[in-house]
Amino acid sequence: MSYTIDVHLTRDDVRQRMRADAIDGLQSASKSIPPVWFYDERGSQLFEQITRLPEYYPTRAERHLLETYARTIAELSKADTLVELGAGACEKTRVLLSALQDFGTLATYIPFDVSDEFLRDAASTLSSEYESLAVHLVIGDFSEHLAEIPTEGRRMVAFLGGTIGNLDPARRARFLFDLNCTMSSDDSLLLGADLVKDRRRLVAAYDDAAGVTADFNKNVLHVLNEQLGGDFDPDQFTHVARWNENEQWIEMRLRAEHATDVKLQEAGISVQFAAHEEMLTEISAKFTPARIEAELHDAGFVVDGMWGADEGEFLLTLAHPFC
Ligand code: AVJ
Repeated sequence: MSYTIDVHLTRDDVRQRMRADAIDGLQSASKSIPPVWFYDERGSQLFEQITRLPEYYPTRAERHLLETYARTIAELSKADTLVELGAGACEKTRVLLSALQDFGTLATYIPFDVSDEFLRDAASTLSSEYESLAVHLVIGDFSEHLAEIPTEGRRMVAFLGGTIGNLDPARRARFLFDLNCTMSSDDSLLLGADLVKDRRRLVAAYDDAAGVTADFNKNVLHVLNEQLGGDFDPDQFTHVARWNENEQWIEMRLRAEHATDVKLQEAGISVQFAAHEEMLTEISAKFTPARIEAELHDAGFVVDGMWGADEGEFLLTLAHPFC
């Protein structure tokens, strides 16, 4: 079976963005690199391993919520088109596709991601598994290409996994507002968000005993080496995961154990790390249901349902644009 694909971002565009992010982030007074660059093939495999770690509860918690409530969500949304933002390998998609199929409305699946690397295989598998499902891949960046996602049909836009937490509050507001602008009032948004909980459990989820998250974090250095001709020595950096109480987010950092100079040939920069200097590699914000509702409301959404809120580990929220 087959699928169609729209490419708004080529592999070369992606590399140019990585280059720009490295130039910005590594030359800034407090160094950082956006988490989107974790996910080359090895990074994606490491993330898959993370989702199976005993300490990393979000994937299991979200899957359980989806399995329990997909039918209700399908009925409330009445969607014929499932759009999945940051689809990756389309892992959780089946639960939603099956629920929409059972409800009798399913027609189209539109996975949206920055890279077609994992999407193509997943797309052809899904199109053969779901008879008469039209699969339409869209390759783009969600800060720029949301408006390029096809708008036909009654859509449910799923943004799962807690990835919304990778955005800081200003970028979250911008993203939700931009998304709202592309949606009509009978479309809906299904958002997965991780909840604030005991800080030891939060930190453990990002600093597992087996060290998989440490390898995942350091993988960004391998990616920079490979893509931008860098000479980072990942062994010179230590994985740091910390709960930032003020910001209500987990932050992951890489700490240079010794002073070191790093060149990124293809970005034309050279970067000095002082001993113990840290580079921010990811924030993963944690929410309360009230906060999710408030942020959605500020972006023009009204909540139709929340699942997992009471004593839950993770939260699914269904919402739609109020005008
Ligand atoms: C894929 C962004 C949801 O923030 O929990 C897992 C990524 N980072 N362990 C998260 C991640 C470290 C994950 N998201």
